[in-house]
Amino acid sequence: MNTLTVALGDRSYPIHIGAGLLSRPDLVTAKLPQQSVAIITNSTVAPLYLEPLQGRLEACGVRVISVVLPDGENHKNWETLNTIFDALIVNRCERKTTLLALGGGVVGDLAGFAAATYQRGVPFIQVPTTLLAQVDSAVGGKTAINHRLGKNMIGAFYQPLAVVADTDTLATLPDRELSAGIAEVIKYGLIRDAAFFDWLERNIGRLLAREPGALACAIERSCRNKAEIVALDERETGLRALLNYGHTFGHAIEAGMGYGAWLHGEAVAAGMVLAARLSQYLGLLAEADVTRIVALLAQTKLPVVPPDFGVDRYLELMGHDKKVEGGRIRFILLRRIGEAFVSDGMSRTEVAAVLGGQPAHA
Ligand code: NAD
Ligand code: GLY
Repeated sequence: MNTLTVALGDRSYPIHIGAGLLSRPDLVTAKLPQQSVAIITNSTVAPLYLEPLQGRLEACGVRVISVVLPDGENHKNWETLNTIFDALIVNRCERKTTLLALGGGVVGDLAGFAAATYQRGVPFIQVPTTLLAQVDSAVGGKTAINHRLGKNMIGAFYQPLAVVADTDTLATLPDRELSAGIAEVIKYGLIRDAAFFDWLERNIGRLLAREPGALACAIERSCRNKAEIVALDERETGLRALLNYGHTFGHAIEAGMGYGAWLHGEAVAAGMVLAARLSQYLGLLAEADVTRIVALLAQTKLPVVPPDFGVDRYLELMGHDKKVEGGRIRFILLRRIGEAFVSDGMSRTEVAAVLGGQPAHA
């Protein structure tokens, strides 16, 4: 097991990464303020991992209730959040009951928001079971639900007490979900870790083949990058915005297609290509780098061509993004692979140029 730390003063917490960690209830019990846990999971993950985890915690003397949510991004909403609150209240969960998110990013974001708001805040532990959640969503304390008009529009910053990432759970993950998780892994290389991007180009076959050593390496490097960023800018006043590389276009794709039609990681992949093309169009990023980015994403079996909603619809959808400031849409752009920055608002012409697939400026 490898343990990293998200350094946030007295709210610092460990990220444990390793095989077989669901068999280590001590990693959870060490953090409990009271021997009481509500496991929040979904109908796909529950049959795979709920019973053994619940049994091990109960064997340690912990009172456990479980809440099994419907699966899917289209359930990341008020109705599902209320299902959690109903269960917590009916089961008389108290202020020191710890909510434990067992699942992917959807479960983690929902459970985290429930933890942030139930009785004005209860303890929270992340046990991520998708690659995307292990490398990104379980770390850093962003929690949210979607609004019909915009992705992750309602939520809170609320840090977990610990992240326990059992890499064995990835064995049951569908191939498409694995690729979606690799999209966020590639993102770290693009925004701040050129050597990691090089490594990914050399090792993408091993990752797709689920070689444990390669997966562990990619998860640890991703979490190290994320933990550093969160420690420096927890509330996204600057640096943390770089983690949204590809997400302005990506969130528009998710909302525009209808939540769940494209996986989050797939939408981010196509969004990262658009953001790279926008960077190239502005004369910042070399064509050779764009080619490398598209090639790696395509090798990962991720979409590199965005859906064609038309420029106006994209602009309308992106107008609801959280990075809009003073009505202008800001994008994360690249100067080169491994170096990103937050742009000023873009004009319609600039955005239209990449959505229309026009070539870069001479
Ligand atoms: P997800 O939670 O929908 O999980 C993907 C699918 O895999 C689901 O069907 C799930 O039930 C299933 N699954 C989970 N673990 C499994 C396992 N071990 N074996 C088999 N199936 C399993 O999707 P995701 O990609 O994990 O997360 C995407 C969500 O995360 C989006 O809502 C996105 O907005 C959010 N997100 C949040 C942050 C953040 O910082 N909070 C960062 C990135 C993404
Ligand atoms: N996934 C973006 C962030 O955590 O800031």
